[in-house]
Amino acid sequence: MSRILAVATLALLSASSVLAQQAGKSSECGEGKSCPSSKPCCSQYGQCGVGAFCLGGCDPLNSFSLNSCVPAPVCNSGDYKFDNLDGIQSNTEYLGDASKANWVSSGQPEQFEDNVLLTLSETGKSSFGTLLASTSYVWYGKISARMKSSRGKGVVTAFILMSDVKDEIDFEFVGTDLQTAQSNFYFQGIPDYDNGKNLTVKSSTFDDYHTYVIDWTPTQLTWSVDNTVLRTLKRSETWNTTTNQYHYPQTPARVQLSLWPAGNPKNGQGTIAWAGGLVDWNAPDVAKFGYYYSMISDINVDCYPTPDGANKTGDKAYIYTAKSGMNNSVAITDDDTVLKSLLGTGTNMDADYPKAKESDTAESPAATSDVATVPGLTGAGPGTNGHPGNDGSDNTVSETGNSGTSGSGSTSPGVGGFSQGTETQKSEGSLPKERGLQSSMFAALVAVMGLLVL
Ligand SMILES: *[C@@H]1O[C@H](CO)[C@@H](O)[C@H](O)[C@H]1NC(C)=O
Ligand SMILES: *[C@@H]1O[C@H](CO)[C@@H](O)[C@H](O)[C@H]1NC(C)=O
Ligand SMILES: *[C@@H]1O[C@H](CO)[C@@H](O)[C@H](O)[C@H]1NC(C)=O
Ligand SMILES: *[C@@H]1O[C@H](CO)[C@@H](O)[C@H](O)[C@H]1NC(C)=O
Repeated sequence: MSRILAVATLALLSASSVLAQQAGKSSECGEGKSCPSSKPCCSQYGQCGVGAFCLGGCDPLNSFSLNSCVPAPVCNSGDYKFDNLDGIQSNTEYLGDASKANWVSSGQPEQFEDNVLLTLSETGKSSFGTLLASTSYVWYGKISARMKSSRGKGVVTAFILMSDVKDEIDFEFVGTDLQTAQSNFYFQGIPDYDNGKNLTVKSSTFDDYHTYVIDWTPTQLTWSVDNTVLRTLKRSETWNTTTNQYHYPQTPARVQLSLWPAGNPKNGQGTIAWAGGLVDWNAPDVAKFGYYYSMISDINVDCYPTPDGANKTGDKAYIYTAKSGMNNSVAITDDDTVLKSLLGTGTNMDADYPKAKESDTAESPAATSDVATVPGLTGAGPGTNGHPGNDGSDNTVSETGNSGTSGSGSTSPGVGGFSQGTETQKSEGSLPKERGLQSSMFAALVAVMGLLVL
């Protein structure tokens, strides 16, 4: 019974975010367009809001002010295994305390043996895919991911570092080419079509585990697969003679793992073509399990020392002190990183709901907020999406009901087994078949939205 209530509450929360986002249509903020003071934080996806919009991914340069975003938790070395989902918290619950969760999820992570599965389904919570983002940021470090990609037309798996000002370092796996890891980087989200490079992987990225490593220092960046360096980028190679700056990733970034439908008909033609075509919802993996999936077994983060010359007055948080978004606009301070509720912002961290009952949880009263509090995934994927041949059309698919609903394995008991690989390989694990719960949640959401519209 309480689960049904919880589901209804989440649906309501989603619906309010959905409505708030749809009102804004495509991007509300970004590229010099800032958010208003009433909803000051510009999310990673270019939407304005409070609460989770001000946490990880909040863009300080396009928010209402430089301090609208909540200070970001500093780098924390660790080996993150996924034999359970305890370290993962949904973005509808996370308030900025990196000591309580290692990863923030949107979409639908699932447990399978010693892996977390990132899922992508036609409808429901993971219809825009699933994203795990680290709660701590990395300001230079060595990040390793032992994982298997997904497969199929239009289905893209990503392991990236993404900073709040959109410096980005990528490994991306297009589901129609299982021998290739595409490497790429961006400086402040500026599309540069010459930065991508294909790296050949010795065996299938889908069938076999490989370890992908991004080794990022202030002066050099390498991409490795299974202990072999396949690409090196030096900061000195990135000098831009127009701006007289190094267009080198240089700001604190979150580690992000995701599976997303680049082959969504609403995306730009260039993106769809890059992804190998439209997603096929009749593909064997979907028929069998109800979703596409990629598997992550282990992420290792080894933080490097604070860069020379950094403006350091503490050791808890990264903040931006200037609009340049360059390395020297980052300071390390003792600022607090935790919001009291999802109504808070960087300049009002203690904002809270009027207390109705002792039993109110952080998220349940969010339904009463008329400002969006939790940004959702969009079909545009986790990155800057500046892929070659992107036609530049508005490719932001607006929310339809997965606006960051709960993650962390709190879903239904399941029927149906999940098995991976060859027929002879017996699978111990069993996974819930998605369809039942998802369609009922979707129906609940549609019903709630109907009510709100009336
Ligand atoms: C990488 O390979 C894909 C095909 O899998 C191709 O479409 C793309 O153009 C290649 N990218 C580069 C930078 O060579
Ligand atoms: C240099 O920077 C400008 C402005 O951001 C950009 O348009 C241009 O593509 C960059 N040039 C190179 C060679 O990357
Ligand atoms: C920022 O980058 C410049 C090179 O553009 C470097 O000389 C300087 O030491 C860096 N500062 C920090 C704090 O990383
Ligand atoms: C150093 O960081 C502090 C915030 O901790 C900021 O007020 C100050 O302006 C920064 N100094 C420089 C030189 O950027």
